[in-house]
Amino acid sequence: MTNIVILTGAGISAESGIATFRSSTPRWDDRALEALCSAEGFAADRYKAHDLYDARRAQLAQVEPNAAHLALARLERHWQRENRGEFTLITQNIDNLHERAGSRQVLHMHGELDAARCESCHRSFPWSGSLAVREDCPACDEPALRPDVVLFGEAPYHRQRSEELSARANLFIAIGTSATVHPAAGLVKHARSNRAITMEVNLRHSDSPDFRRFFEGPATREVPALVDYLTIESGAEG
Ligand code: APR
Repeated sequence: MTNIVILTGAGISAESGIATFRSSTPRWDDRALEALCSAEGFAADRYKAHDLYDARRAQLAQVEPNAAHLALARLERHWQRENRGEFTLITQNIDNLHERAGSRQVLHMHGELDAARCESCHRSFPWSGSLAVREDCPACDEPALRPDVVLFGEAPYHRQRSEELSARANLFIAIGTSATVHPAAGLVKHARSNRAITMEVNLRHSDSPDFRRFFEGPATREVPALVDYLTIESGAEG
């Protein structure tokens, strides 16, 4: 049995046209990044932050999953059909491209653009349109809905489960992440503690000493090739 953990970052969605945070193109500018990702920036100008998340949410309708997203969904189906071990997809991304590509179990450590969370009753709801600053919660009627995303300074989702699954991994693959934001960036160390094979797919090496194999190039080229290898190796179609 081979337990796989995949960790994706903004780079896997870059070729679908969604901006990354720290790499070349397309990229968020620093002001947008500050308002988008930090609790302070969010609190300082909530109207602007809501507008930015509304724009990102609206962009979801304009973009499509790319070959890398589709390849990971193929790998998940193959791993489960062939009963080859646990398959876990953890993403730092808040877009819904993994799900739209067919991935069924996605752990969003930093939340999801197409969801809203009530700051009063803490329930979360699917959300597709724009989200006003004082939107009433469908459950408790408090005007306390916000984008269900994790800001810098807030606790990520699924941390314990992600660390436990990474500590059981035999194969850990990071795709399109600068490996700079914790705790996601530390998951590879949990995999290394289990003597997992650790791989990285990126345009350029992330400087992390924890990856033993590096696949240099765009995710839409490197991920399908890697999935072909991982599925054909077992002699079955993905
Ligand atoms: N194929 C593969 N890798 C790519 C591609 C591509 N087409 N385009 C960019 N990359 C790589 C870049 O080289 C970079 O290492 O993707 C990585 C993107 O890094 P970041 O922009 O830092 O994104 P990420 O690692 O996901 O950031 C983590 O930081 O701002 C917070 O919450 C935000 O979830 C985000 C977290």
